[in-house]
Amino acid sequence: MRISVIGCGYLGAVHAVSMAKLGHDVIGIDVDEYKIAELQDGRAPFFEPGLEDLLEEVLETGRLRFTTSMAEAHGSKVHFVCVGTPQLKGEYAANLSYVDAAFSELLPFLSAGDVAVGKSTVPVGTAERLSALITAACPTATLAWNPEFLREGHAVKDTLTPDRFVYGVPAGPAGLSAQNSLDEVYAVPLSSGTPRLVVDYATSELVKSAANSFLATKISFINAMAEVCDASGADVTALADAIGLDDRIGRKFLHAGVGFGGGCLPKDIRSFMARAGELGADQALTFLKEVDSINMRRRTKVVELTRELCSGALLGKNVTVLGAAFKPSSDDVRDSPALSVAAQLQLQGATVTVTDPEAIENARRRFPELNYETNTTKAIAGADVILLVTEWPEYVDLDPVKTAELVADLKILDGRNALSPTAWRQAGWTYRGMGRP
Ligand code: UDX
Repeated sequence: MRISVIGCGYLGAVHAVSMAKLGHDVIGIDVDEYKIAELQDGRAPFFEPGLEDLLEEVLETGRLRFTTSMAEAHGSKVHFVCVGTPQLKGEYAANLSYVDAAFSELLPFLSAGDVAVGKSTVPVGTAERLSALITAACPTATLAWNPEFLREGHAVKDTLTPDRFVYGVPAGPAGLSAQNSLDEVYAVPLSSGTPRLVVDYATSELVKSAANSFLATKISFINAMAEVCDASGADVTALADAIGLDDRIGRKFLHAGVGFGGGCLPKDIRSFMARAGELGADQALTFLKEVDSINMRRRTKVVELTRELCSGALLGKNVTVLGAAFKPSSDDVRDSPALSVAAQLQLQGATVTVTDPEAIENARRRFPELNYETNTTKAIAGADVILLVTEWPEYVDLDPVKTAELVADLKILDGRNALSPTAWRQAGWTYRGMGRP
């Protein structure tokens, strides 16, 4: 099937490559000339394990091309819109200008029977509004909403073999035809039994908001337990192990630490609250405000614990921050807890050196005032305190004995509860975790 993918950022680039891998003839479209040139040359414009290899593989087949010209969407049967919906400056609501622009620029190139498919995370009600625009421009074209649940670091696998497909389609023959087109697109994963749920527009939009809210709530729940553990001398990791064995609860997303960040969870729970407010259902989501507050308190807690480790004064202390990305296997620093902590420490007088295997360039652009060092050993040398805030394997696997030879003082704060307190203490370190005695 001929498919266009509009917006070649994280979601769109992975989607375009994955659709070509599934055997479709794909045109990737973006307004960013640099991004398009990189992708066309076989280079992923961001770090995502497995993406670049797959990109090269599908480019060689000739089934994938990239362009900045929307006119090339003409002739595709299915058009996926994968542009971003960042948080509006100074507001909780999502910025829909990229979604609106993508759809309105696509309208002139739609043909009879085409399906325009929204994949971006949008406030409930957006699809209904866009559907009216599409039908006005091309009465036989249909809008479907097909939210994406990919995790950075696992994006290719999550796209090719997702847990489920959700199709939001209108009632009647147009909806059925859109459903059939999407079934054709996803024929390979569907044939291996991936569940597929067909719902109305509003439900499909809410599925994404609800899923991200649930994940954020789970993380903030365990971080709230970490606060209680700190107050009572209990161990939140043992607590998570114990409650996680109840399969109604599950151990996943119960890792207490510095909290969640990234380009999705923080802004998605906020835009969900904003939208609920517009709908008069704000009371239903007041708990998300608490989820957000618990999460933000984690960053402050890491700064306070660092100050404690520095005997009460950060001024002039050398602090090494292990990790800049919002999570491992990513170079994404959007709302990264690691950088938020690093910047606060620097503002309070510490000399902060940040290291990360992939995210340094992005981090430097965002916070040019911090010191950056690509080499872990050099980054650690002379540190008065080390903070592990992004649990990259190379940091989790650091040898406490060898690391002790590099630093000025043997103090480590494990902001992800990823290290063995026993091993580090045995090597002479003052070890502090998050919600661990
Ligand atoms: C998330 C959703 O998981 C995904 O389904 C959606 O499509 C986009 O948003 P992503 O932002 O890639 O994906 O990251 P995710 O793996 O969910 O982690 C989000 C944040 O939570 C990270 O900062 C991570 O470090 C943190 N986290 C995760 C915890 O602090 N504790 C946990 O137990 C799990």
